[in-house]
Amino acid sequence: MTITLEPLIAHRGAAPYAPENTFAAFEKARELGARSIEFDVMMSADGELFVFHDANLRRTSNGRGQFGDSSSDYIASLDAGSWFSQQFRGEKIPTLKETLRWFARHSMHANIEIKPLPGRTDDTTTAVLSCINQCWSSDAPLPLLSSFNEQALLLCSRLLPELPLGLLLLNWKSDWLSRLQNVNGVSLHLPKHVVNKERINTVKNEGYAMCVYTVNSKKWARRFWEWGADAIISDYPDLMAN
Ligand code: G3P
Ligand code: MG
Repeated sequence: MTITLEPLIAHRGAAPYAPENTFAAFEKARELGARSIEFDVMMSADGELFVFHDANLRRTSNGRGQFGDSSSDYIASLDAGSWFSQQFRGEKIPTLKETLRWFARHSMHANIEIKPLPGRTDDTTTAVLSCINQCWSSDAPLPLLSSFNEQALLLCSRLLPELPLGLLLLNWKSDWLSRLQNVNGVSLHLPKHVVNKERINTVKNEGYAMCVYTVNSKKWARRFWEWGADAIISDYPDLMAN
């Protein structure tokens, strides 16, 4: 399977302009021209999926404690906007279900990053797939599922093989190809500091897409695109407009 990606994927919405991983951030990214948005998905103690990044609630909400120990009622009651600015007071932590509906409604492309908590990979992954099955409308662009967790990706490829999968790595690894093949991935997602022209060529010559995260400078975005990267993942959906 090959994949065509939007050249810019907005990281967690539009994180510098609105609280990350909220509808305010997704709306802002869309307003700034994004056609594709990356967001993170985690599971609450009682099995509900939410769009959230950190293992702890403290940084991006008024909650306290570990996300994975918290109930869905508690998570749903939190304010995920005031930490960013009073203008966003009352912003909620979105559920995956309502998020997928928003993406389908706006025909936006989603890069769903699955972040299973330790020991909960299979539960989280099967729940994400079942939510996609329930909420995705057939005319919306297929989401790209990505993860650092290779067990999660492998399970996705077995349960829903038509979905494109991206392998996230923290570093360039000499065994990247076998790892990507093992999970039936279509794209390799690498941090910007380990990406160069030669590595992009290597990945592209093997027939895979290359995504570079998190690129916030115009100069580097241009350079990665010139070198052949399929997409950059950026906090700034308007990176090239300014
Ligand atoms: O998908 C790219 C990037 O989001 C991966 O790292 O920690 O920002 O989710 P993180
Ligand atoms: Mg992410």
